[in-house]
Amino acid sequence: MDIAITKSPTAATRSKPADADLGFGQILTDHMFLMDYSTSRGWHSPRIEPYHDLTLDPVAIVLHYNQQVFEGLKAYHLPDGGIGLFRPDKNVERMNASTERMVMPSFDAEVFLAAVKELVVLDRYWLPTSEGTAIYIRPTMIATEAALGVQPSETYLFFIVLSPVGPYYKEGFNPTRIFVSDEYIRAARGGVGNAKTSGNYGPTLYVSEEAKERGYTQVLWLDAVERKYVEEVGTSNIFFVIDDELVTPSLSGSILSGVTRDSVMQVARSWDIEVTERRVSMEEVAEGCRSGKISEAFATGTAAVVSPIGEIGYMGEDIPVGEGETGPLARRLYDEIVGIQYGYKDDPFGWRVQIA
Ligand code: COI
Repeated sequence: MDIAITKSPTAATRSKPADADLGFGQILTDHMFLMDYSTSRGWHSPRIEPYHDLTLDPVAIVLHYNQQVFEGLKAYHLPDGGIGLFRPDKNVERMNASTERMVMPSFDAEVFLAAVKELVVLDRYWLPTSEGTAIYIRPTMIATEAALGVQPSETYLFFIVLSPVGPYYKEGFNPTRIFVSDEYIRAARGGVGNAKTSGNYGPTLYVSEEAKERGYTQVLWLDAVERKYVEEVGTSNIFFVIDDELVTPSLSGSILSGVTRDSVMQVARSWDIEVTERRVSMEEVAEGCRSGKISEAFATGTAAVVSPIGEIGYMGEDIPVGEGETGPLARRLYDEIVGIQYGYKDDPFGWRVQIA
């Protein structure tokens, strides 16, 4: 594939914040990748251009009916000065599962990887080097046809933008406080909870703002039907250490299949830790935390990596998890996964993809 490249005349001239000052996603790099789709031509015109606003018709279907999917992955600075990605094949696989659910065209895995590689290498000026920092890569597909009828678009735009990032939560690797929503839900089975589409995120803001006002970091979502079983936390998957077992809610159809979730399970199993995917009720969690049967809880995600949970607010009670500190398994998993991502640990699973 030939990617047409138009370089920004001001590329690599803006000043960059120090690695320690990086937040999440406020700074975008100099360039973006774009590619168009129409039902008659398929995917065409791959190109990299200076980062710019998009021009959309006011009735572009994405703006009214949310025909949209996105992904999130990171590029890491490696010890040899190169650049690594972590399991990018999983992102394109999930993106194509999401596009199928949203009646959007699938995207070729090799083109996806070539586009990410070309763009990240071009904008490597922005790659921070300290551990915990990275370039966050945001591939996105939107329905661009101008039409007010509720129907699948005949045209789409796929684009990728990059953002140098630090930790997703201001707590970094310190334990977060989580608020359990027993009133509002994120996704119901049969809906689109397992697709990475923007419509899953906007409706959570109301509850996450309420949680923040009460001093919590994020919301723990329960199942939509019984409001009984744990599903996800914020934009991440969730794990519990129950006795000596690592437990995570099974993918019920309303839970996003996280790349870090899968990686954590594989790493833990390789250490002979018993890993179980099953339904976990909030009662079991509350009781387990009170009795000490549950010693750790943590969230996993590309943005948040492994993020320990210190306290869970449920039905007016703040229940500490273990000692309320970062637990040993969360620490060990974080070190292992981050070590593979940043290239200073062996990669027995072959997850690291060096692109420069
Ligand atoms: C990610 O971890 O990549 C996410 O999707 C979180 C994001 C919505 C900020």
